[in-house]
Amino acid sequence: MCGIVAYVGPKEAAPLILEGLRRLEYRGYDSAGIAVRSDAGGGTLAVVRCEGKLARLEEAVRRAPPSGTRGVGHTRWATHGRPSERNAHPPQVGRVAVVHNGIIENHLEVRRRLEGQGRTFASETDTEIAAHLLDEALAAGASLVEAMRRAVRQIEGSYALAAVDARTGDRLVVAKNASPLILGIGDGEMFAASDIPAILPYTNRVIPLEEGELAELTRDGVRIEDAAGRPVSRAVRRIDWSPLQAEKGGFKHFMLKEIHEQPRAVEDTLRGRIVADRTGVFLEGAELDDETARSLHRVVLVACGTSFHAAMSGQRWLEGLAGVPAVAELASEFRGREPIVGEHDLVVAVSQSGETIDTLAAAKLARERGARILAVANVLDSAIPRAAHGSLYTHAGPEIGVASTKCFVAQLAALALLALRLGSARGRLDAGGLAELTAALLRIPGRMREAIARNSGVETLGRALASAPNWLYLGRGRSYPIALEGALKLKEISYIHAEGYAAGEMKHGPIALIDRNVPVVAVVPHDEQFEKMMGNVHEVHAREARVVAVTDREDPELRTLSEEVLTVGETLPAFSPFLTVLPLQLLAYHIADFKGTDVDQPRNLAKTVTVE
Ligand code: AGP
Repeated sequence: MCGIVAYVGPKEAAPLILEGLRRLEYRGYDSAGIAVRSDAGGGTLAVVRCEGKLARLEEAVRRAPPSGTRGVGHTRWATHGRPSERNAHPPQVGRVAVVHNGIIENHLEVRRRLEGQGRTFASETDTEIAAHLLDEALAAGASLVEAMRRAVRQIEGSYALAAVDARTGDRLVVAKNASPLILGIGDGEMFAASDIPAILPYTNRVIPLEEGELAELTRDGVRIEDAAGRPVSRAVRRIDWSPLQAEKGGFKHFMLKEIHEQPRAVEDTLRGRIVADRTGVFLEGAELDDETARSLHRVVLVACGTSFHAAMSGQRWLEGLAGVPAVAELASEFRGREPIVGEHDLVVAVSQSGETIDTLAAAKLARERGARILAVANVLDSAIPRAAHGSLYTHAGPEIGVASTKCFVAQLAALALLALRLGSARGRLDAGGLAELTAALLRIPGRMREAIARNSGVETLGRALASAPNWLYLGRGRSYPIALEGALKLKEISYIHAEGYAAGEMKHGPIALIDRNVPVVAVVPHDEQFEKMMGNVHEVHAREARVVAVTDREDPELRTLSEEVLTVGETLPAFSPFLTVLPLQLLAYHIADFKGTDVDQPRNLAKTVTVE
């Protein structure tokens, strides 16, 4: 959580840093701040900090623009210390200011020592100790880079740090451990940021820093060193995302834009992975040759939140299409016990950001125990792919809305490909079967476009139901993860209580909640679970629930039982999740928009959960 940006170059730093922060605001929006070094008087720092969203900082900077060509900025998701101006970053101590993303675990201990030496603290944040440690070293005559070296040696925990010093005119110093930090290599200017969208308008050439590394940024280049102080040489990567992909493109919210980008996200994720005659699936970078695929005893998928729902879909495809034992696990639970995994297990860590702390820890734990790790991630070279043996990237482009949509369907596409790959390598799918499935998969983006267009009127339904305080989402089999995902979308952006439930479990408890005030969203495609789901729909209808049915084609019986039927069109039953999820995302979006919540940055949430 939190987003940091740093700039050194020939231009005014403040507007560039603010623009970068705007693109990182999804990471946290409790407060924001900026520190810019000006050459005036041999070097001074101008620090501006505001509680609340970035707009308040922008307004403050507009009133009194700090002038200078290097600086750092921060947008905060509060961990230590409540959201306030006092706790906003960057803290400044003496001549140095620093921004931080992460959690310094030993901050109390260090703070006590520093207080014992007569230092006083202005905030409740863990970050302020970093500013004091830098100041302590600078006051003892260290250079800025040496001060950072000394500071990080005393810090335990996760951090991406960027520091600017009033007296060090030509450079900034950054350091990273367990929180993401990307260097952006410009032409005569350098950037550092927590995520790629912040630097995309200026450069597509990046170097992701590795754990324990530290870098000095000047106008002309970067110098990276490892934790032991040894120089590191690192290849520059080119990112093929366009800055426009990170803009709203005429939509009211990023989430709505991203919902509409879903067909393209699936197309791009499938692209180049299915051979022309459709009888082969190639997953370059996944490191799953035929022998490895055949040797697997089990696949364990670990993930959090929406990615977990994609993992649950993946489990069903791996079992049903590849015939391999599979289980989806919440990463936080997996890592919190003594899981039995070993060398014949493939552990698939599914994460949009590639940085989620629980998913990363689960992957590392499984790797320590001998399992093969495959990352399914959207962000190139993020921590989870780096901790894995192989990676299967989704190509959804930058997802800015905190509520995940296009990354979810891109994850579905990647996991469906994985199931087909394992199914063919293990002999479960013959050429004909594989060709039928791959052909259906390639038709999915077109079907998604039709389903989105067909359900754009869901806005009216959303208005009619927006005042209901409690919702139930039901599904069976492959539609159960979709029911969970629909409920999660509704609760996270509209703040309405919603439960996703396996429909078969309804009689074991939740049916007691049903009355005429409860909308029940039933995901009922015509698949092998259809009759049983219809039984559930009858049961909730008999108890006067307001049924919203999501199905693939018109059905007269479903129509009579439902207040509204949302049809999504047909595909192979196996792939119905790609379509049934769409009206649920749109419904949640329109309810939230009607209620006037902050759709793209819902309260208390952050896009990337890098703290436990
Ligand atoms: C999705 O709408 C959520 N905001 C959240 O559940 C998210 O999916 C979860 O935090 C996992 O993130 P990841 O995919 O980046 O690992």
